Amino acid sequence: MDDDRPVFFHLMAYADDADRDVVDMVSGDPDWEPPEALREGLRSFADAPVADYQYPPSEGLGELREEIAARRGVDVERVVITNGAGEANYLAMACGLEAHTGNEVVLTDPVYPYYSGRTEMLGGDARFVPVDEDGTLDPDAVRAVANDDTALVVVCSPNNPTGAVYGESVKRELVDIAETHDALFVSDEVYDHYDFSGDFHPALSFDSPNVVVTNSFSKSMATTGLRVGYAILPDHLVDPARTRHMLTNVAGSAPGQYAALRALRETPPDYYAANRAMLRERVDAFCDALDEAGADYTRPRGAFYVLVRFDGYPGTLENVERLIDEAGVAGMPGEAFGSSREDWIRFALVTPRAEEAAERLADHFG
Ligand SMILES: Cc1ncc(COP(=O)(O)O)c(C=O)c1O
Repeated sequence: MDDDRPVFFHLMAYADDADRDVVDMVSGDPDWEPPEALREGLRSFADAPVADYQYPPSEGLGELREEIAARRGVDVERVVITNGAGEANYLAMACGLEAHTGNEVVLTDPVYPYYSGRTEMLGGDARFVPVDEDGTLDPDAVRAVANDDTALVVVCSPNNPTGAVYGESVKRELVDIAETHDALFVSDEVYDHYDFSGDFHPALSFDSPNVVVTNSFSKSMATTGLRVGYAILPDHLVDPARTRHMLTNVAGSAPGQYAALRALRETPPDYYAANRAMLRERVDAFCDALDEAGADYTRPRGAFYVLVRFDGYPGTLENVERLIDEAGVAGMPGEAFGSSREDWIRFALVTPRAEEAAERLADHFG
């Protein structure tokens, strides 16, 4: 499958139809509360004047772009508000392939499946760089596949699905590789608030014309349904991205942008810290219980996914369905993330029942 939605929908339906209670750890949909200011923003929008219900500026509400630009220390002109990080990644990849020489797209294996699906949709040639078992990315391996046909290098950190966090030196190397080959480095930072390692490093710190940063409020504010994200583009890609965004969407959703703006302004750092601490506890409880199952797993340093390998039980769709029926736990088949994780299953820690799920797995495999 080219992206994980069909598998995701299939598994959700499968788990729903199961004859037993199932702990759902399939999707990346947070189960924790959005910021109160976001709910207030949506409530107050309901009573806004008629004019506020009309098309917002195509590139996004001015005040939201200014708020983001100020926080990121960039010129507001470089900020385009998008329909989630998904659209931001699409704009970066499409415009990068168009503007930069070559057709090759360097991705990691395992990969967030929307990058590989989108590469195929855009007619690019994916070049996969395997990462270590714990998700560590060796920049020399990226350097080895990059060449003058490389148009894009696309990574996310904190990483889905490995939970790896690429630190400053790795990011610096990726920027350097992009500059060497006149490619575009797309740095997807959608999990930036969920770094447990302290190593997360924003790609914008490098101030390079070869860098696009993408992000959204989907994960940081637990609102994947709000659909508000953004791209911070180098000058040469701003107009192409705005045009593509406008001709595809006309504009983004006004209520979502108003609510995101209010939440951004009014949400204290404690909100993010509390969710990060809660997830860290879930990670520990889930992984400790997995030890009982005798499973191999990667303890995430960021984001909220755990890749698990059970001996003699590959991460196929069929095996994941059996796990729903026999253990009452639903995950995502590792094969959805590329060939290197075919033996693994990804569990999303988006339920307070994560520890119970690991205990069920331990009972099943132990
Ligand atoms: C790495 C990564 N990037 C982007 C997205 C999509 O983000 P958004 O909901 O903002 O489009 C996801 C969602 O799971 C993701 O894991």
